[in-house]
Amino acid sequence: MIRCKILLLDHQLEKAQTYNDLKAGYGKDKIGNLKSLISAYYNKFGYDELVQITIGVIESHLQNPYSFKSDAIKFWFSDFVKIVSVNDEDKKGGIILCNSGEYTRIDALFDFFLQRHSCRSYSNELIMDEEIIQAIKYAQTAPSACNRQPVRAHYYSDQETIKKIVLAQKSDINWCLNAKGLFIITANKSYIRDYYERNQTMFDSGLFCMNLVLGLHNEGIGSCFKMAQKTNSIDKNTKKIASIPDYEDISVLILVGKYSKTPTVIAKSKRLSIDTVLSIH
Ligand SMILES: Cc1cc2nc3c(=O)[nH]c(=O)nc-3n(C[C@H](O)[C@H](O)[C@H](O)COP(=O)(O)O)c2cc1C
Repeated sequence: MIRCKILLLDHQLEKAQTYNDLKAGYGKDKIGNLKSLISAYYNKFGYDELVQITIGVIESHLQNPYSFKSDAIKFWFSDFVKIVSVNDEDKKGGIILCNSGEYTRIDALFDFFLQRHSCRSYSNELIMDEEIIQAIKYAQTAPSACNRQPVRAHYYSDQETIKKIVLAQKSDINWCLNAKGLFIITANKSYIRDYYERNQTMFDSGLFCMNLVLGLHNEGIGSCFKMAQKTNSIDKNTKKIASIPDYEDISVLILVGKYSKTPTVIAKSKRLSIDTVLSIH
């Protein structure tokens, strides 16, 4: 899939610049491949965020004193930038300087993590689309393997649709029907290159979901995961009802609703001891 290949090369050329031991002329094959792919992509799909990201990546690659840069690539790039007529602020990819050592510890963060619990009982208040968009912005801060970002979030607020999806999953439904919204989190299967990467999309989904539920909690929205039933027929039927394309793999469902103004019962879900979980070798 061309999008995946471009994202991968973008990442490799960005990442290369973060190493301390860059070798002169690095990235020859990769910049050549990226040039061909982004040209073909632009000719087929036109100007979009992937073109913006890639232009930023190529520009920063060409500015790096150690990178491979032939006259042909430099000429092609200056022409390409003119053809797509991109502003400086729309050159999205590349590198930045980050002063992580200067960040101050957020003491309240651990308390914030402790405060989130799976919530299976919600208020009647509706969730606005802007709140859902904000929650996805939290989720998107999660990393993904090679920054390929295969995870997709499908959101449903129509009660009939939620009911049909939950029923299609063939499991306990009562608490689910109390929810005001439902996410189905998927990952694009074509973003995996080979068998050895087969678990990466599910792992990426997990990271995305954790940031999503923490973000939802910060916005006053309770949530509870619901594991996806992975038999072929249930999976197929769910995708049909939920309008999810076949090339996406369902990772998990998440029921959501605004927290009630009065206290609700939650499971303690007590965590095991540090001794059980951690082995320092
Ligand atoms: C991948 C996953 C699947 C889950 N599936 C269900 C489910 O099908 N039904 C349910 O009631 N809770 C489900 N949960 C919620 C867990 O029971 C809950 O996260 C766990 O008990 C820890 O509690 P906490 O979320 O309050 O910290 C699931 C959680 C995860 C991470």
